[in-house]
Amino acid sequence: MAVPGAPAATNLGAEPAQAMVMADAPSAATVRIDPSASLRGYATPAVTLAKGGTLSVVNFDSTRHSVTSDDHDASGNALFSAIVDPGGTATVDGVSLLAPGTYPFHCIFHAATMRGTLTISGSGGGVQPAPLSFDQPLTRPRTLRTAKMRIPIQQVGVRVLPTGPLTTMWTYGGTYPGPTIVRPAGKDTKVTFVNRLPSKASLSVHLHGDHHTAAADGQPTRYLIAPGKARTYDYPLVDGGRPERAAFFWYHDHRMNATTRNNWLGLQGMFLVNDGKSAKLGLPSGGYDLPLMVSERSFDANNQLVPVMPHGMMMTGPMAPPNDSTVGDRILVNGRYAPYLDVDTHRYRIRLLNTSPFTTYDFALSDGRPFVQVGTGNGLLPKAVVRQDILLGPAQRADVVVDFRNELGKDVVLQSIPRMNAPAGAAGSPSAQIMQFRVRHQVSDTSRLPVTLQPAPKLSVPSKVSAVWTMGLGGSPSTGRFWTINGKTFNPNRVVYKVNKGATQMWELRNTTKMTHFVHLHEERWLTVLRDGKPPPPWERGLEDTWRLDPGERVRVVAKFTDYTGVFMIHCHMLDHEDDGLMAQFAVVNPGTGKLPKGYRYEPKGGPAALAKRL
Ligand code: C2O
Ligand code: CU
Repeated sequence: MAVPGAPAATNLGAEPAQAMVMADAPSAATVRIDPSASLRGYATPAVTLAKGGTLSVVNFDSTRHSVTSDDHDASGNALFSAIVDPGGTATVDGVSLLAPGTYPFHCIFHAATMRGTLTISGSGGGVQPAPLSFDQPLTRPRTLRTAKMRIPIQQVGVRVLPTGPLTTMWTYGGTYPGPTIVRPAGKDTKVTFVNRLPSKASLSVHLHGDHHTAAADGQPTRYLIAPGKARTYDYPLVDGGRPERAAFFWYHDHRMNATTRNNWLGLQGMFLVNDGKSAKLGLPSGGYDLPLMVSERSFDANNQLVPVMPHGMMMTGPMAPPNDSTVGDRILVNGRYAPYLDVDTHRYRIRLLNTSPFTTYDFALSDGRPFVQVGTGNGLLPKAVVRQDILLGPAQRADVVVDFRNELGKDVVLQSIPRMNAPAGAAGSPSAQIMQFRVRHQVSDTSRLPVTLQPAPKLSVPSKVSAVWTMGLGGSPSTGRFWTINGKTFNPNRVVYKVNKGATQMWELRNTTKMTHFVHLHEERWLTVLRDGKPPPPWERGLEDTWRLDPGERVRVVAKFTDYTGVFMIHCHMLDHEDDGLMAQFAVVNPGTGKLPKGYRYEPKGGPAALAKRL
């Protein structure tokens, strides 16, 4: 049984039966990571170790990786984990305490491709995976429903973890998430944000997904809210002069180079626009309409958020692009770690929103029941879609119905499962328990779940692509690396593309990098017409504003540019990428003049229009 060359684990003479088992595995082993691991996986994906042994990891690649167990203990810690920089060696903490058994592991930055298993041999006890205890109730942020509102931006202590000190966060209105704004479509809404942070930071608030003026868009370097000052954002909630479609938007900070930090510290809130359509359809409403903001953070021993790395252009070193990635080890729902919610025997409309800076989740329910997806973040789908799991990257949303009607007494866990069949290098998702639904109250349910919902808006799809936006990586490890769109890193004074107000255009988004990006277009809601040359999947046939682009993917989208002229952004919503240059600007202009607002340079050379001509 013994592996030749394996060091003897213990005193072989004393307990022969035990020793036979102990000796069949080495007391030290190493996970090896070779170049291009994000595409090829671990060089040694299957590792065996004797109980009590030491696991190390050696990284020969040029990017950061980790060896992290899929399984957790009862308080949510990964059973073992180590992050290892390029060229580095690390010891994987937690392995020597494990009970015999098989433990799947993954890289937290490349979870789809980099997966392996650790087998601990031997006998006796040790640390084992445990279900989360779900110790605190889910909270719903308070709602604001008036035409005018004032939200102070302030630093406060927030209950995030179930025990111990409060966590100091930057908040909209003193809570994390900020208040949920709920407004009827077509009703002008003015939100005054007041910067009361004890900091020199100027801020910028973006209402993600909405259609409004450039001045109200939350620009990275313009129209800022200086310390002590206020700014009123005007959201008319109309499109083309008519009330806009219902939506599940969210608002968040958008400050140049500080978006990751400001969102990490808590500047995030939800915003629902209602148009009466879902009430007519009979979808679950009131207390049965449950928006959930899912976002991860890491904490120190004192319950305080760990600092994020600095961002900016031209970075060198192990955190430079493509290694820039802010991940957390605790998944929060509406600002609470691992919450539970007592629910009724009723259908629930659950609105899932991922506001993590970097991580993608593949949402699923623990008992295998499906989600019935009825919408995106931008309104209802034409038809309801049954889904076993829903992959959502940063800023993506899904509007789903979950049926608890016949489940009295049951506990159902909302979880993330590892993404299956992802292409090499693509974003993966962690294996994690997120929150628990406890079905505890018997009620009757008069809601409905129709299969036909709301047709997509009629748009005349142009025959040609007008603009091509290519996500890329620029620079070199020695001179500095940065993310690019069409070869250029972000410059807030540059506009690379003009579109006439009133025009309907088709744009192509392309990813030429070796990792996934989640690309967001400001200002309009878009119809996805082609994904890699094919019609998009049924859940991508509503309106969208943020698309997953796996390595090599191309997506074609169509929108009409209505109501407003001005400068707007396109960027990756992995906030690290956005802060490290993966952003560009287009301008909606008056067809007569084509004029840009003051302070911008127009540099179309090699840009979206030029690339589209080559198609
Ligand atoms: Cu949700 Cu430009 O952002
Ligand atoms: Cu990205």
